[in-house]
Amino acid sequence: MTLAEYLTAQQRRIDHTLDRLVPAESTPPETIHKAMRYSLFAGGKRIRPLLCLAASEAVADFTPGIEEVASSLELIHTYSLIHDDLPALDNDDLRRGRPTCHKVFGEAMAILAGDSLLTLAFEVLANSPGDDTRRARLVGELARASGTVDGMIAGQVLDIESEGAEPSAPLLASIHHAKTGALLRASLRFGAVQSSASEEQLEALSSFGAHIGLAFQIVDDLLDVEESTAALGKTAGKDAAQGKVTFPAVYGIERSHAMAEEERLEAHLALRPFDERAERLRELADFIVRRKA
Ligand code: IPE
Ligand code: IPE
Ligand code: MG
Ligand code: MG
Ligand code: MG
Repeated sequence: MTLAEYLTAQQRRIDHTLDRLVPAESTPPETIHKAMRYSLFAGGKRIRPLLCLAASEAVADFTPGIEEVASSLELIHTYSLIHDDLPALDNDDLRRGRPTCHKVFGEAMAILAGDSLLTLAFEVLANSPGDDTRRARLVGELARASGTVDGMIAGQVLDIESEGAEPSAPLLASIHHAKTGALLRASLRFGAVQSSASEEQLEALSSFGAHIGLAFQIVDDLLDVEESTAALGKTAGKDAAQGKVTFPAVYGIERSHAMAEEERLEAHLALRPFDERAERLRELADFIVRRKA
């Protein structure tokens, strides 16, 4: 199977799982389920679930419940995007090639759609196949990765509070580590934990996640500068317009590309304990750094 075929197959697998887990549009109150599904099924890349599935494949041939565990990451991610786009945060009109959730459903429904996806993620984990100890561990890790201490919300707070600040390397590192890095790292750890990885495997996959998480946000910052709105499906050039502390702002374009490449290589090195079973993860690392959207 080529990488493109693999990506399509895994994205379908996740989409089917999400479709099964999210209440139908006809479930009352209909508006909220329409808003949740509008943003969830708008064609996201599903990077976090893909990383979770590939991490699990590196450890075990068959892992019951891995689709649910992977999908919980996408529910959190989509919630974070809906809220990131709100007028009070980045104030964006376009997401995943469509008008943003609040543009279509209004701010109140968009806030609630984000809240609902967040809540559903934990319900999905609570009901996922596996033993209680593992479920509790995943619930704790997801809360931590999304939370206010080194997690996604912490990163969003720093990102917002740093608008217009003097771009500095330590500030940038702390924003990106939390804003995007925490959930990316959790994606790898989720695959490992659900597949009963050894301590050594879990450590290697966490380290891979840390490097690829940083690479992911460097590339997101670069794409904002280098690609068009049409190609991205979200408004290009917004970071500079809003005075965000980004990699291009701190290091310039060329150095940022080199740093993404360094992180890609470090991610590959972290997978040394794994044989060819981790090949898809290696390919995903390359895909994340070379993507154009
Ligand atoms: C964009 O994430 C927001 C960041 C965390 C940088 P993705 O690039 O994964 O967005 P989708 O899910 O494919 O739309
Ligand atoms: C958002 O980062 C990260 C989240 C936690 C949602 P950005 O603000 O850079 O994401 P985009 O560029 O709007 O997708
Ligand atoms: Mg933002
Ligand atoms: Mg944004
Ligand atoms: Mg961005």
